[in-house]
Amino acid sequence: MSNGLLKGKKGIIFGALNNQSIAWKVAERAHEEGAQLVLTNAPIAMRMGEINALGEKTGAPIIPADATNVDELNNLIQKSMEHFGGKIDFILHSIGMSMNVRKGKHYTDQNYDFTMKGLDVSALSFHKVLQSAMKADAMNDWGSILALSYIAAQRVFPDYNDMADNKSYLESIARSFGYHYGVAKKVRVNTISQSPTMTTAGSGVKGFNEFINFSEKMSPLGNASALDCANYCIVMFSDLTKYVTMQNLFHDGGFSNTGVTQEVIEKFGQ
Ligand SMILES: NC(=O)c1ccc[n+]([C@@H]2O[C@H](COP(=O)([O-])OP(=O)(O)OC[C@H]3O[C@@H](n4cnc5c(N)ncnc54)[C@H](O)[C@@H]3O)[C@@H](O)[C@H]2O)c1
Repeated sequence: MSNGLLKGKKGIIFGALNNQSIAWKVAERAHEEGAQLVLTNAPIAMRMGEINALGEKTGAPIIPADATNVDELNNLIQKSMEHFGGKIDFILHSIGMSMNVRKGKHYTDQNYDFTMKGLDVSALSFHKVLQSAMKADAMNDWGSILALSYIAAQRVFPDYNDMADNKSYLESIARSFGYHYGVAKKVRVNTISQSPTMTTAGSGVKGFNEFINFSEKMSPLGNASALDCANYCIVMFSDLTKYVTMQNLFHDGGFSNTGVTQEVIEKFGQ
């Protein structure tokens, strides 16, 4: 399926780890829609090597960058512009990690070094990407920058732990930076709040299998897949959404506006 929605556009995609990653699907779809890409991930994640197959498939060079390291981000932005022979039209930030979740630390018993690391990787890195791009004047007018979020930013999902706070901060950065980037350069900045999705990061959350089933039953359309999330990202990178900015956009089959569904009610019958 291709509608040439990104024909002639150039973009950087962070966060493709393996073929389950949401970023992986976005890269495949962006390539199909005619975009030229640069792929990036943390050097440590690249050692697994799977991203090379995606690079070959999409004709994209792979430029490593730890998204918490400003020098590495500056290098990525410069090298990408050299590769494209010009400025950038879109960026996907598809990065998340909580050390407290990884190490099984409860929300009420956090290791604050872990907390700060997770905040840096999952949220502050988005500010760093935006600031690096802005300082290098790397974006074309009407460019589009997206990060991926989750509804735990608004409502409590206890096992999501400190990632909930990280996502709140992430969404706030999209609003605040979106204002400044809009005024300075007509670049739009948004987050997409995606359904739970079976990926490496997703399945790190305790009780994820039960939770994904619950979410499926609580969403009138069911959970949105990684591929459907990628399709939404493509629309947001395209010229069809030029005036959408500073938003958190729910892509969740209706979950966010549903109080309860008949299927869930029936589970509580006598
Ligand atoms: N899977 C879900 O249920 C779900 C739901 C809503 C939102 N999201 C969000 O989608 C995004 C992508 O996650 P995913 O589910 O595709 O999982 P994933 O594990 O495939 O992707 C997470 C990526 O973050 C990268 N990363 C970690 N630390 C990094 C660093 N320091 N610098 C650069 N990259 C780093 C990892 O290498 C990996 O590629 C995350 O922001 C996640 O929170 C996921």
